[in-house]
Amino acid sequence: IQSETLEKIKHTNDMKELQQIRVAILGKKGSLTSVLRGMGKLSKEERPVVGEIANAVRETITAAIDDKNKKLEQVALEAQLEKEAIDVTLPGRPVQIGGPHLLTKIVEEIEDLFIGMGFEVREGPEVETDYYNFEALNLPKDHPARDMQDSFYITNELLLRTHTSPVQARTMRSLDGNQPVKMICPGKVYRRDTDDATHSHQFTQIEGLLVDKNVRMSDLKGILDNFAKKMFGNDREIRLRPSFFPFTEPSVEMDISCKVCGGKGCSVCKKTGWIEILGAGMVHPKVLEMAGYNPKEYTGFAFGMGPERIAMLKYGVDDIRQFYTNDIRFLKQYHNA
Ligand code: PHE
Repeated sequence: IQSETLEKIKHTNDMKELQQIRVAILGKKGSLTSVLRGMGKLSKEERPVVGEIANAVRETITAAIDDKNKKLEQVALEAQLEKEAIDVTLPGRPVQIGGPHLLTKIVEEIEDLFIGMGFEVREGPEVETDYYNFEALNLPKDHPARDMQDSFYITNELLLRTHTSPVQARTMRSLDGNQPVKMICPGKVYRRDTDDATHSHQFTQIEGLLVDKNVRMSDLKGILDNFAKKMFGNDREIRLRPSFFPFTEPSVEMDISCKVCGGKGCSVCKKTGWIEILGAGMVHPKVLEMAGYNPKEYTGFAFGMGPERIAMLKYGVDDIRQFYTNDIRFLKQYHNA
């Protein structure tokens, strides 16, 4: 039994198998156990001799099993440590870090420029009343710009605002007619357009409004010139062209000199060398009056620009849909811009 068992112990590499060997020899029905049990049947002379041998065999086998068990435990431990080992010299895995959206950056940049010129930042609702979106801006009920085709109406009286200009009226209304106003308002606006490279049914505007005593058109021009140079560089020039908006009189559109291709010939500069970037004008006396200001005492100017357009010009983005489709490869390019 001893030599056979020791041989088996020697060749096993498995703790379960070792346990089976222990049971087969030393268990209740084990072969050595039955030898020890059979002792009673032996003669007086045989008993001590057989007993001594059987006990010695049991001790030898028990020791061999314990010894092997320890060895197997050690092997298992080493295997586990090896498996769980951490190589601290390996380079780390890069974590994907987000960043502000290009549009957010442009809006914040424009906000900062105007805050630097003493403007405060205001906000207004995106779901707007017909009154503030149109009526208070001198767009009476039958005005063609109120066409259902241009606006997303929710009810007869509610719509998604088509521009940020209602915030002009809201801001003046909140100030009971005898305080100067100097604010800008960034926000989302909505129009029923078919989306393409230059049109989006939802886009961003930044409105500006300055109302005080003795505000003149030259003040508007000075502020806009300062803005254009800070935004696009000191070598840029602006020009104002006559235009029409129901809520400003006179109304203008502002162009900025195009530097992308030396002024002429490319798709951005077209043939003229100028690019339109915003609409503006002197606040219409009727708009001041409806908001509670006396137009004989107060005058003001207002402007409205599209940050997408400005970002497109500044960074050469050729499709407005890029701002909204969230292609990480596009957005990432501007994280450090
Ligand atoms: N609200 C006008 C638009 O959306 C822009 C504008 C704002 C024009 C303020 C003049 C004054 O086109």
